[in-house]
Amino acid sequence: AEDGYDLWLRYRPLPAPVLKQYRDQGTQLVAPADTATQRAARDELVRGLSGLLGRAPALAAQARRDGAIVVGTPASLPQLAALQGELEGLGEEGYLIRSTRIDGRAATVVAANTDMGALYGSFHLLRLVQTGQPLAGLDLREAPKVKVRVLNHWDNLDRYVERGYAGESIWDWHKLPDWLDPRYTDYARANASVGINGTVLNNVNTSALALTPMYLEKAAALASVFRPYGIKVYLSARFSAPIEIGGLATADPLDPAVRQWWKDKADEIYRTIPDFGGFLVKANSEGQPGPQDYGRSHADGANMLAEALAPHGGIVMWRAFVYSHEEPDDRHKQAYNEFVPHDGRFADNVLVQVKNGAIDFQPREPFHPLFGAMPRTPLMMEFQITKEYLGFATHLVYLGPLYEEALRADTHARGPGSTVAKIVDGSLEGHALTGMAGVANIGVDRNWSGSHFDQANWYVFGRMAWDPHAGAEDIARDWARMTFSTDPAVVEPVVSMMMGSHQAVVDYMTPLGLHHLMGRGHHYGPGPWVEGGPRADWTSVYYHRADARGIGFDRTASGSNAVGQYAPPVAAQFGNLDTVPEEFLLWFHHVPWDHRMASGRSLWDELVLRYDRGVDYVRGMRRTWAALEGKVDTERHHQVAVFLGIQEKEAKWWRDASIAYFQTFSQRPLPEGAAPPP
Ligand code: GCU
Repeated sequence: AEDGYDLWLRYRPLPAPVLKQYRDQGTQLVAPADTATQRAARDELVRGLSGLLGRAPALAAQARRDGAIVVGTPASLPQLAALQGELEGLGEEGYLIRSTRIDGRAATVVAANTDMGALYGSFHLLRLVQTGQPLAGLDLREAPKVKVRVLNHWDNLDRYVERGYAGESIWDWHKLPDWLDPRYTDYARANASVGINGTVLNNVNTSALALTPMYLEKAAALASVFRPYGIKVYLSARFSAPIEIGGLATADPLDPAVRQWWKDKADEIYRTIPDFGGFLVKANSEGQPGPQDYGRSHADGANMLAEALAPHGGIVMWRAFVYSHEEPDDRHKQAYNEFVPHDGRFADNVLVQVKNGAIDFQPREPFHPLFGAMPRTPLMMEFQITKEYLGFATHLVYLGPLYEEALRADTHARGPGSTVAKIVDGSLEGHALTGMAGVANIGVDRNWSGSHFDQANWYVFGRMAWDPHAGAEDIARDWARMTFSTDPAVVEPVVSMMMGSHQAVVDYMTPLGLHHLMGRGHHYGPGPWVEGGPRADWTSVYYHRADARGIGFDRTASGSNAVGQYAPPVAAQFGNLDTVPEEFLLWFHHVPWDHRMASGRSLWDELVLRYDRGVDYVRGMRRTWAALEGKVDTERHHQVAVFLGIQEKEAKWWRDASIAYFQTFSQRPLPEGAAPPP
């Protein structure tokens, strides 16, 4: 059934006209299968080529005919020994794919230094066939630019997924470690196909029980499934675990007994999972325990765990998503204030994990001011793949443009061109330990992600973690070809829908730099009127600050001065009403309703028309998709069509509710051309 279970690894038969070319170039498959990773590569190639070409490739021990596909390492395959020199610089995960000759016969070679490199190369070769690229004249060299490429599952041990919109957790803890659901293998295949090499199994808001022997045994069982695919298992660690499961009276990171407890725990974990990746920690944030409970710093806390993991090669991913319990004058500034003083004090095996923006995965945020501000500390990027603030699983929003915008943002930390991508890949500050995390959108739904198009967000995250300089549109095109069809009459409309979909959700939810205006708690649907309650920064009025004069959060020197946390050229650009990009206008400024926009319209008129524009885009997507009926299988076509209908209804809901609410402040009529009130 076309239920989406196969993700982008569908391997359906290619159209007849292109088939012959590939058959001539896939006469034999030479791929040793002596190790688990080699077997994974060969199995994938057999599965993929059989499906795509309509017949199984002939397996051979060495290339003896023209048109062989040859996959391996100099160690696994003597025929590749001659390539040894060319593999230099590709590291442990890189590979080359080349059209060449072996013993005088034409061949397509996938060669690497390691079995893992060969597996990544195999997936790349399959992608070339899936997307209809010719297999002639190939000369590709690929190696990941980022070292740690991890999913963060916000999965609780009772299988509830925090901010998950695709059903329960795929980790069936109850049946582990004995029952290894075949889905775990498919999960590993999908991740390896886009280069993801780690997974944090449990939620950042975690129970300490995840570190007890019972759960370690279950995690070890998952690790055994993932290992051949190059995926390491990590766990979120609760900072107070020494108290909760260790029987100690404190979790003070400077207390010798606490430090010993973590060392013993690390030793125990590595006895169970020899290639365990390390810990992810949310500390002193939203009520979670942490070192500050004992008057210690984030560095003290992270370094204690780092010391326990270091002898085993493990790392700590210490999150910078923190805000204290005291009423903040501007939550935007808190992470910077708490972390920058500790730059250079973190142990070598610590990565500080920073969300792309300073608030919280909003539809659009300027880049986080920590990027560029901690040159002596490797910072890893945290993106959200699950769409907590972007319409959950029903709204079609391709996150590639959001990721690209964040990664290409220029911090000016070392002059122009100091992009976030160069901080994440370590090149700007010379860090070898680098990483990118994505909060997973995966659950037990047949289609994994809750909707067909949300699979693209998992896909693009992996591709951009591998190469943070990659382009969102190229990746969308690959995904669309692999997922729906290689027919340009399908691919091009789908890609164009996807590429505008992020701007559309920004327009109909939070245009012009507005943010955090959704319903309280669940974060679904409009709630610009949300006020009161336990914390000012959990309301909407805190963020939009609308009044009779205007709207927006003054973060310039006359306000909270959060702009002062950016490098001077950026601070100057964002802090000036004349130079701030319009998409961040109300993020940084409180602006009068009659302010003249670039369009010549007043702010009020522009705001209303942006909301309209967002709704119109969704209508356009519905039309585009409707025209693809018959070109996409009915099962998937139907679900996408219905979801787009939901999205249009809800885009209007956002628009109408927001405009009606803000109009109570602006007291102005709707501009000409605006949609009439409902
Ligand atoms: C958001 C989200 C929470 C999550 C938190 C985090 O606030 O709503 O569910 O726990 O981010 O990233 O830690």
